[in-house]
Amino acid sequence: MASEIRNAALWESGEMKIQWVKQNMPLLRALEEEFSADKPFKGLRVALSVHLEAKTAYLCKVLAAGGAEMYVTGSNPLSTQDDVAAALVHAGLNVFAWHGATEEEYGRHISRVIEAAPNIIIDDGGDLVHTIHMKYPELVPGVIGGCEETTTGILRLIAMNREQMLKFPMVLVNNADCKHLFDNRYGTGQSVWDGINRTTNLIVAGKKVVVAGYGWCGKGVAMRAKGLGAEVIVTEIDPVKALEAMMDGFEVMKMNKAAEVGDFFVTVTGCNDVITEKDFMKMKDGAICCNAGHFDCEVDVAGLRKISVRSWQARNNIMGYELPNGRSVYVIAEGRLVNLAAGDGHPAEIMDMSFAIQALSALWLVKHGTKGRMLGNMVVSVPEEIDKRVAVMELKSRGLEIDTLTVDQERYLNGWRE
Ligand SMILES: NC(=O)c1ccc[n+]([C@@H]2O[C@H](COP(=O)([O-])OP(=O)(O)OC[C@H]3O[C@@H](n4cnc5c(N)ncnc54)[C@H](O)[C@@H]3O)[C@@H](O)[C@H]2O)c1
Repeated sequence: MASEIRNAALWESGEMKIQWVKQNMPLLRALEEEFSADKPFKGLRVALSVHLEAKTAYLCKVLAAGGAEMYVTGSNPLSTQDDVAAALVHAGLNVFAWHGATEEEYGRHISRVIEAAPNIIIDDGGDLVHTIHMKYPELVPGVIGGCEETTTGILRLIAMNREQMLKFPMVLVNNADCKHLFDNRYGTGQSVWDGINRTTNLIVAGKKVVVAGYGWCGKGVAMRAKGLGAEVIVTEIDPVKALEAMMDGFEVMKMNKAAEVGDFFVTVTGCNDVITEKDFMKMKDGAICCNAGHFDCEVDVAGLRKISVRSWQARNNIMGYELPNGRSVYVIAEGRLVNLAAGDGHPAEIMDMSFAIQALSALWLVKHGTKGRMLGNMVVSVPEEIDKRVAVMELKSRGLEIDTLTVDQERYLNGWRE
């Protein structure tokens, strides 16, 4: 067993967190039971790079229960929880991650996981896939395939595939209905406000909240801001999404205009340079910016540092910046994912669905791919039966029953003569 973590002695606190989420992740518990009996991952090495907190740790334990030799790292230097990493090491898994890793350390941890020569890759944002292709091409033939968790990672995979650079199949977990409809919308919606609220301890009601991007995540963030009593403004680049936001009852305008009126700014676009120097200079005194998109390139924090005359730690995880015009703006968690770098991520029940899709997609790869032999198509949708199975499991776990079609109804829906 190998590891590179901050402090192994923290394991008890991490284990307590894992037990708490396990209580609230019935789908993964069912899969743990199934995998423990069948050992479908026996003899396989699984490399995983996902925000390393308790829910991810439980996914790692479920895969390990299925016989996988786990090599684990985080997917963002600020979202790794050191006690959770310690608990996984205590349980015998190989972990390379710590909170606040420098860029060099983060890159080394990704490399250490890849150097284990994985057969299955579970990625969140594309760092493992990118690194193995660019730095360890000799290990590529040993990979059966992988699963990608998030929208930004999928965009990178599609770009790689377009240039025929992707050399093993990747299942697009984010695109499953049971992932993005719930995780991106309700998960991000709730956890972003949890992160902002616990970090700022300020009232949201009566304030103007600017949400940049009205995709699945943006819809959730806007919906919950409205629920907290905010006036919500949406900025978009897609005309259809902009109209959707308008019809949902939100104001729509350009960022440069919204910059003048917003109290809170949340970027969730997956795009870079969404809030830049010219926007900061228009902001009201005391405006608070944060990001919920995957990478820390949406709020131009480097640009803000450059133009500001002074910066200071305003509160735990909040930096203040005084602008040349005398006003101050604040940034939460250095512009990294606010719900993970300033919170505990999505609620457990949400990640239960997302990670059930992950676990079942990994199982699907094991059943349908063979080491070194490619499946042909390199970007693979989550099979519909997996999506359905997870929805049925989730309904059952919540004690909900739904109707089933009668034979006559099925004939009616599928025919054209009546
Ligand atoms: N914080 C989290 O826990 C979490 C969870 C899931 C996804 N994500 C990440 O959040 C980001 C968004 O994911 P999504 O699933 O909502 O994607 P999405 O594709 O559904 O939505 C993104 C939206 O942003 C818009 N957009 C793009 N560039 C823009 C710009 N410059 N200004 C304004 N709008 C712009 C697009 O038109 C689109 O409507 C991705 O980076 C994704 O990886 C974060």
